[in-house]
Amino acid sequence: MSETRYDLVVIGAGPGGYVASLRAAQLGMRVACVEKRGALGGTCLHVGCIPSKALLHSSERYAEVQHELAEHGIACHGVELDLAKMMARKQRVVQGLAKGIDLLFDKNRVEHVRGTASIARPAQLEVALADGGKRTLATERILVATGSQPAALPGIEVDEERIVSSTGALDFPAVPERLVVIGAGAIGLELGSVWSRLGSKVTVVELLERILPGMDAEIAQHAQRVLRRQGLEFRLGAKLTDARIGDTGVELAVEGGGDDAHEHIACDALLVAVGRVPHVAGLGLDELGVQRDPRGFIEVNERFETSVPGVYAIGDCIPGPMLAHKAEDEGVVCVEMMAGHSGAIDHDRVPSVVYTWPEIAGVGRTQEQLEEAGREFKVGRFPFSANSRARTTGDTEGFVKILADAGTDQVLGVHILGPLAGDLVAEAVLAMEFGASAEDIARTCHAHPSTGEAVREAALAVAGRALHV
Ligand code: NAI
Repeated sequence: MSETRYDLVVIGAGPGGYVASLRAAQLGMRVACVEKRGALGGTCLHVGCIPSKALLHSSERYAEVQHELAEHGIACHGVELDLAKMMARKQRVVQGLAKGIDLLFDKNRVEHVRGTASIARPAQLEVALADGGKRTLATERILVATGSQPAALPGIEVDEERIVSSTGALDFPAVPERLVVIGAGAIGLELGSVWSRLGSKVTVVELLERILPGMDAEIAQHAQRVLRRQGLEFRLGAKLTDARIGDTGVELAVEGGGDDAHEHIACDALLVAVGRVPHVAGLGLDELGVQRDPRGFIEVNERFETSVPGVYAIGDCIPGPMLAHKAEDEGVVCVEMMAGHSGAIDHDRVPSVVYTWPEIAGVGRTQEQLEEAGREFKVGRFPFSANSRARTTGDTEGFVKILADAGTDQVLGVHILGPLAGDLVAEAVLAMEFGASAEDIARTCHAHPSTGEAVREAALAVAGRALHV
């Protein structure tokens, strides 16, 4: 038995767990973080947000050279794709960031325990160490931050070569000639975009009659049109009923979503991106009596404490948006409350971003949610085609949409399809955090020329007084 008694042991070193560890250490706690992956950073850093953004950026450059630079008077000849080099760059980005977290752990004296943890009882963890052997950790509190894993489709076996999850789709050794993506969520559209730009013929099969459920429908519809023009083909209202790996690829059976009720599609690779589920197997939660909801998410109270005192949980393994920044914020608030501070997370102020080009971002209520709630609201829209900065860069696709309360003018939701929408939405999140009205945004000085002016113009449009349309 180890002689050290920790104030906090965190299980999982993704953005939720490693940030919680750092903050707890800052607050003076003795902290260990147990991680079974060879390196720190979790799904987000190793097989999620970061490698996908690296590939999105690289593939955008490739598409730009091929299709857009000529308009600027820049002629490029003999453009070639070196996929191995692109993948190597992606890996360097990941490794560099992982090393950064190692340094942060050292600096803050967070102990990194390499191995797989299970909870023996509330104040005790057993770790099967990565290099063999076992270790018992005694601790005041345990924080479960084990994240999520790709949801499976019944009867479809992922081999990560031909039938892949997002993990395999970040690592194809060659560009698949025909790629079918199941699910028009963030993963399907981002990775679909990457491979389409690199040359794949991409078909997205989606169960619902729309893409990006959960995002504002008007924005999603416009985004679909843009993505279709970029070459992505969509089968909406369609369901995959069978997928078999053959000698030359994958044979799919799809029902609905086109002229043919039953269609057979042959492809070289199939990406299954139909959501994610909590990753909690093997932790011993059920034996311990930790309550989970019917979908398997760990139930927590407002302090992120589970039904077992001393055992806490944050991030993708508890309910709420499955996003790295939501997990980070929960980790910080959770350990601050352990240290006697107060805090709360409002899911309505958690932005979501899909890193296609143009990007798709939103925060707060969608128009459909307001309509469903019977709330009276006003809408202001402003297109990037009327924004001077967007005209100079050629990124004129999309618009900003602001929803404000009809009576008080308080901003209730902001939705953006446009250049670097993921950065632009930060202004909206801050405004909403401060309970701003649309007029507050409209009266705020925005640099000229900048795409931020489109946010201001949309706020002006809420009162029917946009200047540039
Ligand atoms: P998602 O939940 O965003 O989308 C899954 C899609 O698959 C939905 O549109 C759903 O209707 C559809 N679907 C479900 N079953 C289906 C079936 N049998 N046939 C056809 N379509 C089906 O899930 P996704 O894209 O896998 O992402 C997982 C999680 O990771 C999400 O919570 C997402 O927000 C998060 N994520 C966030 C990113 C970002 O913030 N940029 C990037 C990647 C993932």
